[in-house]
Amino acid sequence: MNDIMIGFVLLLLLVAAQASINGDTIKRSDFPDGFLFGVSTSAYQIEGAYLEDGKSVNNWDAFSLSPSNIEDGGNGFVADDHYHRYLEDIETIQSLGVDAYRFSISWARILPRGRFGEVNPNGILFYNKILNDLLLRGITPFVTIYHFDFPQELQERYGSWLSPLMQEDYVHFAETCFKNFGDRVKHWITINEPNLFTQMAYKNGKYPPARCSPPFGNCSAGNSDVEPLIVVHNMLLAHGKAMKIYRRNYQQKQGGIVGIVVDCLMYEPLTDNDLDQEAANRGLAFYIGWVLDPLIFGDYPSEMRQYLGNQLPRFSSAESNFMKDGIDFIGVNHYTTAYAKDCINSTCSLTGNRAINGFVDTTRERDGIPIGEPTGIEVLRVVPRGMREMIEYLKKRYDNKPMFVTENGYSEPLAENENQNVLQDNKRVEYHKMYLSSLAQAISDGADVRGYFVWTLMDDFEWVHGYLPTFGLHYVDRETLNRIPKLSAKWYQDFLNPRYIREYIS
Ligand SMILES: *[C@@H]1O[C@H](CO)[C@@H](O)[C@H](O)[C@H]1NC(C)=O
Ligand SMILES: *[C@@H]1O[C@H](CO)[C@@H](O)[C@H](O)[C@H]1NC(C)=O
Repeated sequence: MNDIMIGFVLLLLLVAAQASINGDTIKRSDFPDGFLFGVSTSAYQIEGAYLEDGKSVNNWDAFSLSPSNIEDGGNGFVADDHYHRYLEDIETIQSLGVDAYRFSISWARILPRGRFGEVNPNGILFYNKILNDLLLRGITPFVTIYHFDFPQELQERYGSWLSPLMQEDYVHFAETCFKNFGDRVKHWITINEPNLFTQMAYKNGKYPPARCSPPFGNCSAGNSDVEPLIVVHNMLLAHGKAMKIYRRNYQQKQGGIVGIVVDCLMYEPLTDNDLDQEAANRGLAFYIGWVLDPLIFGDYPSEMRQYLGNQLPRFSSAESNFMKDGIDFIGVNHYTTAYAKDCINSTCSLTGNRAINGFVDTTRERDGIPIGEPTGIEVLRVVPRGMREMIEYLKKRYDNKPMFVTENGYSEPLAENENQNVLQDNKRVEYHKMYLSSLAQAISDGADVRGYFVWTLMDDFEWVHGYLPTFGLHYVDRETLNRIPKLSAKWYQDFLNPRYIREYIS
């Protein structure tokens, strides 16, 4: 081939790559047989019924008692009232045609006083009803044991995750779940996003218990350089101990698998120079390797040890041994990508210059051009290629450990949207098509990804943002709490059950 022809072929390949990432042609049949499609939710974000049938006050109830802690002054006291409307919601889930549903257990509902009191039978009953109804309808449950909410008593007694005592409470909670629900749950997630929760709660101080120190934020107490490391250490040991019990006492009999879910923010280097390339790798090690390396290799990433020294806790050799190979799958929550800038050899923001950040600054612009279209949450920019890059990174670093994409979603702010038709959410449809297309490419390159869950079933309480973000496939009228499908719900239904199949069946 001469140069012109090579150029032409490259151009064609480029056009082909562009065409497939725009998502227009993505089909369910582009995914392997047995690949699970689902939707995700979490207990506190939808259940409401915050003091009903024996549930106690949890950390988010206590935090949102001060309306100024939440952007719209909201809370989860009623949320989407899923506690009373779960049957309707499961019917809706079934009507989408999904294979699986990921939800979480409210710790304060089944163990209102943690280890210091009894199991609440009403709480067990509620989740039994959900599990039984899902199974009756042929939907596979993916159960997150802990998704950001825990009994406030554990905060007041000993400071929750800052204390190793929380490991014992977590293990008690996890074992209560295995014992009561494990006959029907074959996919467990121990902890949702230890990395994001810890950063928000102990570095930036925006989630309860709102601890931090300058320059990260102005909290009444905390230490942003040290506490996040202690908290994740306790969470990892909690996972490791619960996993040990599951493998010893339950796994053989119940036949389930156990994973952990990590917030998988992708980093690209800000410039082509080696320092930024190293910064991107450090950024990934400090955010994702922080959680996954100990649970796969038995210790923290070497980059973290190099920059954090003795501030980074250590695992004893016994701990390291039971942590190693401590997950059956990686749960990937992926929404967006950022640029990483080196802060060792260049001047950076105050926070970028800190060891706890691996001397990495995170930015959204390169040469004045933003990395992607903004969504309702400014930091969640639309960068479809990031899905493939993220999966490739995990595949390589963790020897193609089985993965499930446990969350992927798009939000528009309701407040700015009042004049638009919130049900006509074309941008969300485009987002999912493009990200799915990018995921399909990673899978066809050999990545062992086994499922994809949309965040989320319906608009919900989005933590400190209250009800402003709208990630749902269904709109929820805040007055009547009626659920109304958006265009994206119809698109997902069509994607999952191509029309010809539905017509053939009916
Ligand atoms: C903390 O408060 C100081 C003084 O009011 C302010 O200048 C600074 O921006 C605040 N920092 C953060 C991260 O909010
Ligand atoms: C970056 O900084 C380190 C430590 O100060 C130094 O050893 C290294 O030579 C610098 N690298 C470049 C490319 O400037």
